[in-house]
Formats: sequence, C-alpha cells, structure tokens
Amino acid sequence: MSKMLGLSPAVTINSADENWSELVGPSGSLVVPANFAGTLPSHGTTPSSVGIDPKLMQRLADGGFLAVTAYDDDAPLATLVPGLKPLAHLPIDALPTTAYRLSRFAYVRRNKRLMVIEIPTTSAYLEIHDPRVAAVAAGLAFDRTPIALAASSGLSVSGVCEVLGLMRSIGIVTAVSRGFEFVPEVNSLIAWAEQEALPRGFSHTGLVAGLDQIPVEGADESFHLIFELHHDESRQVDISVCLPYEGDGASGDRALLLPNGFYEFDIVDGIESLMGVFVPLAPPTDSLDLHTQEQRLEATLQALGSTCRVANNPDARALVAGLGLPEMLAVLPGREGAVRMLFNIPATEQLNLAKTILQDAGVPASSLSHFQAIEPLLGGLPPIRLAVDMNHTGLGSRIGFEVFTPQAIALLPKVMANLGVEHQMQASVLAAVAQAPKKRTVYELNADGSVSDIPAAHQRIEVLHVKIGLEQDGQVLVKTYTLAASVPLNEVGKSIEDADIPKSWEFHDLLFHSKTRDGRSLGRLGGSSRFTIKPHPEEPSTQPLPGDILLPSIDIPKVIAVDPPFGVVLEKRTSIRAWDGPELPVAKLAELLARVMHLIPRSDEILGKIIERSGRTYPSGGGLYEIDIVVFASRVAGLAPGAYIYRQGSHSLGALTGSLEHQEKVIFGASEATGGGISRPQVLLVLAARYPDIATKYEGIAYSLMLKHVGVMMATIQYSATAMDLGSVPLGTGDSDAFALATGLDYYTHGSIGEIAISPLD
Ligand SMILES: Cc1cc2nc3c(=O)[nH]c(=O)nc-3n(C[C@H](O)[C@H](O)[C@H](O)COP(=O)(O)O)c2cc1C
Repeated sequence: MSKMLGLSPAVTINSADENWSELVGPSGSLVVPANFAGTLPSHGTTPSSVGIDPKLMQRLADGGFLAVTAYDDDAPLATLVPGLKPLAHLPIDALPTTAYRLSRFAYVRRNKRLMVIEIPTTSAYLEIHDPRVAAVAAGLAFDRTPIALAASSGLSVSGVCEVLGLMRSIGIVTAVSRGFEFVPEVNSLIAWAEQEALPRGFSHTGLVAGLDQIPVEGADESFHLIFELHHDESRQVDISVCLPYEGDGASGDRALLLPNGFYEFDIVDGIESLMGVFVPLAPPTDSLDLHTQEQRLEATLQALGSTCRVANNPDARALVAGLGLPEMLAVLPGREGAVRMLFNIPATEQLNLAKTILQDAGVPASSLSHFQAIEPLLGGLPPIRLAVDMNHTGLGSRIGFEVFTPQAIALLPKVMANLGVEHQMQASVLAAVAQAPKKRTVYELNADGSVSDIPAAHQRIEVLHVKIGLEQDGQVLVKTYTLAASVPLNEVGKSIEDADIPKSWEFHDLLFHSKTRDGRSLGRLGGSSRFTIKPHPEEPSTQPLPGDILLPSIDIPKVIAVDPPFGVVLEKRTSIRAWDGPELPVAKLAELLARVMHLIPRSDEILGKIIERSGRTYPSGGGLYEIDIVVFASRVAGLAPGAYIYRQGSHSLGALTGSLEHQEKVIFGASEATGGGISRPQVLLVLAARYPDIATKYEGIAYSLMLKHVGVMMATIQYSATAMDLGSVPLGTGDSDAFALATGLDYYTHGSIGEIAISPLD
C-alpha cells in the first residue's frame, strides 16, 4: 500500500458560514467550500479513493494543510505532520538495503492520546498509529537496514521503508556511511567546480587539462581547489590545489606552525606546478619581545625549508617590529624561494606603519600612493591582510591586500573607484563577489553504479576573498579567489547529522533552544492568557511575618552616596572564591540584600492613567519579579546558620525549616562548583523561582525567561557586592532537589534556579 495524503492533524476547520469553512494551519489559513472540508481524507484512517480537484490539492499541499500517512496494507502506521513549513516533496521511501540510524535528537512522547516522534531541528513531527513503528524506532539505535528492521518489528519491508521515508524526510533518521574512499568525491568536486566556479568570460584554456592532472591521491578533508580569477582583460584563471601540510614544525612546544597548512599547486594553461606551501602561524599566547618573535620566525622558516633569514633582512625585521608576527607564511619555490608574509592590518595605524616601512624598503611610490584608498576597508573582522614577499635581501616590490569580510566586500565599489580601477574590472569583480555560495551533497554509489541514499560528502563553492594587487607600475589588478571544497562523510557509521550539527549540541540544549526561540516552535511564544486563573503575584508585604528576623535597617540613599562611581565598580568586579576569612557581619548581609532587592516607587502612565508600582534595581520580564533570594548562612556574625527567605517588603528573614543535612549539602555544593575546595562560603545566596508566577503570563518561554532573570540578578548582586567591598562568585550548578529538602519549599513551585556565593574580603 502506498502513502496517502490527508488533512493535517495540525489543521483546525472553522466554519465561516454555511457555505464556507476556514482551514487554519501552523503556517496560514485557507477558505474552502464548507461541503468540501468534510470530504477531505483525514490522516491515519483507511485510505479512500475520494477524488479531489488536483489544483485544490496542490494549494492545500503548498499551504501546509496536508499530512502524509504511511500504511502497511490497510493499517495506518505513522503520519508525517508538516510544521511551520509545508512539505516540499512527497517523502521518498527508504531503500531496503541501506542502513539507517535514529537521530540523537529524536524523542518519543505522548501528546494527548497519541504517541509522537519529534526532533528539535524542525517543527514537523511524526504521529505513530501502530506500536510496531515504535519497535522500528528502537531498532534504529543500531544502524539497521529496513530488511533487518522488518524482521525485528513484524512489519513488512515495504511498510518499514515507507515509515523510514517519512522519518528521513524530516531528519529523524539518516542513512549512515559505509566507509568510503575519498577520491571519487574529489573527482566529483572537480567535475562540479569545472562547470560552476567560473563566471562567464573567464578563460578555460588549459583548465580541463590542468584539472585532469590534479593529484587527488592523499587528499583528505582539507582538500580544496581555489580558482584565482584575474579581472583584467586577460580573464586568466589560475587554479590552486590545496593538500594538507603535515611537515616539520607542525608540532612541538616551540612550533608556530599550525597543522592545517596547505600546499598550493598552480595550474596555468594546463601546466601544473608547485607554487608553495602556506601555513598559518599560531599567535603567541603571551606577548613576546621583538627578539623572541624574530627567533621564532627564524625557526619557523627553517622548519619550512626556506633559506630566507629574517636576521639578514632589515626590511622584514622592520615589518615584524611594526606589525607583529605574520598570520600566515608561504614558502614559494616557484617564486625563486621567496617567502610570502601575510600580516593582519586591523587599523589605520598599522596601515601607515606598513607604508613607511615599505617606502624605506624601496617599494615604488606609485604603489604606496594607493594606501589611502584602502583605508575604508579597515576595521572589519577578520581584518584585511597585507601580503608582502620577502626575498634573501629585502622585500618584493609587488604587494597585495586581501579583503575577506562581507562588510568589507560591500565597501569594494567605493574603494575600487578611489583606486582608479577601470570600469570593466570593477563590474567583473562585483559580479564575481555577488555570486551566492553553492552547496550540494553527493551520495555514495552502489556496486552497480546507481546512486545510493548514503551521503558521501558535502561540497561547496564560494568566493573566499578579494585581492587588491598593487603592481610595480602603479596599476591595480583585482583578483577574486573562489573556493571549491569537499567535506567527506566517509567515516564508517557517520551520518549527515554529524556533519551538520556540531557535537557540542547536547540533546536537551537543542530541544530547549529550539522550543524557546521562534522559528521551529509550533506553539505560541510570549505573553498569553492561557490560564483562566491568573493570580498576579502580590506586591511584597511591608509587614514581617510572625517569627521573622528583622534585619538591621539600611538607609539606601546614605549608603549609595559614598559608593565608588559605577564605572569603577564595573572595572573592579571580579569573582572571588576566598572563603577562609572572617565571618560576614549580618549588617553587611542585610545591606547587600537591601541594595539588590529594595522596592523603588515608580509610576507609569498607561492610557492617560498613572499606575503606581514598586520597581527594583534590575529588570524583570512582565515586571513579575518571580525570583526570591534564599540565604544559606554558614558563617554570619549575628545570624544562626540555616536557610532563610528574604522578604524585601519588610526587610526581614523568614527561617525555612528543612533538613540540616541538605542545608549542608547545598552549601557544600558551592565548594564543589568552584573546584572541590574544602572551605565553604560564609553565605550562599540561592535564587529561588516562583515558577507558576511567570508561567501564568508567559507561554513557551517561562523557563528561558527565568534563566535570563537569574543572569540579571547575578550581575546586580555581584556589582553591589563589589561596591560594598565584598567577594562574590556566581555558580553554574546547584542541586535543586537538595534545596527543596533543605528549605521545605516545593520543587515545582518555588525551586532553586541559580546560586551566588558571598564572602567578606580579608
Ligand atoms: C552564570 C555563571 C556561572 C558561573 N559558575 C561558576 C562556577 O560554578 N564556579 C566558579 O568557580 N566560577 C563560576 N563563575 C565565575 C566565572 O568563572 C568567572 O566569572 C570568570 O572566570 C571570569 O572571571 P571574573 O568574574 O573574575 O571576571 C560563573 C560565572 C557565571 C556568570
């Protein structure tokens, strides 16, 4: 049985009047005849052969109103429900002999009376109608083929292929690599690059012959081609083939060379020759004096096999003294053994310095006069680079500037005009940089030569940078460098997901991120009135509760009058984890709490009405201030050890009754979070959120808002502590279960969400 299209379960039908109904889906609405709405096939039911106008069907599909259900015979197995984006294509069945794997981000959950499989990379999801589909999902932990999955789940092979087809179309499963030679991918890249990398008008003379000679053996993921396009009348193309550099100096404690350098072969008119080896330099971790810099550079040149020496080259030494170590070095046997140095030029100061040094080195004034026109390109990230060749006695007379960032590229028209670049060259450069990057995925081939659905490599073609070359005669030649690169996915068992989503994304982080940001979340995000009962948190009472400990009163205007200026506080703020000092006097604790949490009378004018409210020293979404401070006193002079909630309205502490053992555990957690020290902070302030207070107003983002509130409160507490000459350190982790037991507060309604330790300075 094939797949069936039906009305998406994410669509609701509202009847507009007796003649018309409105279909409302996640990405829009459509008005259809009332009688038609009822005849639409619905998902998950036995397929019927109701004929529907193909045009209307197309509109339904385009609007995201249709879902696809996979069947085993007549039994519905699973339905693919589109999210914010309509289904672009009908999912294609998986291949019976390809191995598939479940995404590490996929999860199964119950949604009302349905099981769904979701994934935070998309808002589309899968409804499961048949438990055998869950057995298929379980089998997918182990790179299984549909043939094997059919045997273990009890579904037919075609049923498994259909379900996997639905899963694959939204990334719930991916085909896995069988382990593969990289060479076929390199060849496919070369063939693609040949057709796609060159804009019209560039010379293909000798190109194909040159490409044929490219040494692809030994290629790995750093393999790429660079097409150097000359935008003058010659329309010449030079091709560089980049292979990884693993030579001397790429390891060892004094090494400056990074291992991701590359050999560059030039292919000019079908003749391939080694131009040189380019190696990026590791920026020194500490600032080096000039002598050490030169020594390092000397050692690096030696490691690269160059006979050029900095010590005998006053001009090169002057460049290093002025601009620091180059960012990249290239040893160029093809250019009489010269060494190309690429220096970062972040600002005008370095540009002017370079100009003076180059002038002294004999670079013609006609070139140097162009430096002023380069200035608007400075200040971007990455900075522009100055390329200068060093030979055995001095510097080469041709210099170039490499421009990378999109911002800088946007400035090119003006800069080229100021440089006097002729119109045709300007137009040609701008056409090249305007080319959108091209991307594709290539797939492994089966033994019979047919294309499998196992991805073998990601490939891309894009403009890398622009070089403004200042020629000896003062002419300006602009070249663009177009990269064609291939990232192979040929590691056994590697899936396309591994290549697309950095390993650093953990399941829960991506789930939380995608569900609390717009773009992939189907639900509403933001302030809404989804609960009928909406208790707005009460204003803090000015009356202490019976049994509260009244803290020493603090005259806020008086204490802040003698504070250091705000800018000084910012500069002084630092995290302090020294807890072996004296006890913290309770008056200091009282002052810190009052500074951060005291109520500040504010009035807002809303629709001409003055509304009085109490503000705080820090902002809070919706003005809800759902986070309380719970004090864990360990060594406070004038306050018994224990846990207390701070009530800012009455400036009092309410003792919390919980287990002492867990109070210890919470405080000790601070020691562990700061590196397993033995000492404990004098005071730990735990930020405890009244979760429901914020969730009544904010839908979908309540927790993420609370974390932001923790951030602003931590900052406010730390700045206040700094102003008071107290030590403080925010903590990244804390035990919310121990907190609930330590305080008697409910984990789900008043739980801990952040911690910051406070200590007196000696
Ligand atoms: C949210 C957050 C969590 C932190 N977690 C810890 C922690 O668990 N342990 C720790 O010793 N320091 C922690 N710190 C402090 C940082 O290590 C510190 O801010 C950083 O090293 C910079 O030093 P500075 O605060 O002195 O400028 C945290 C800081 C923040 C903002």
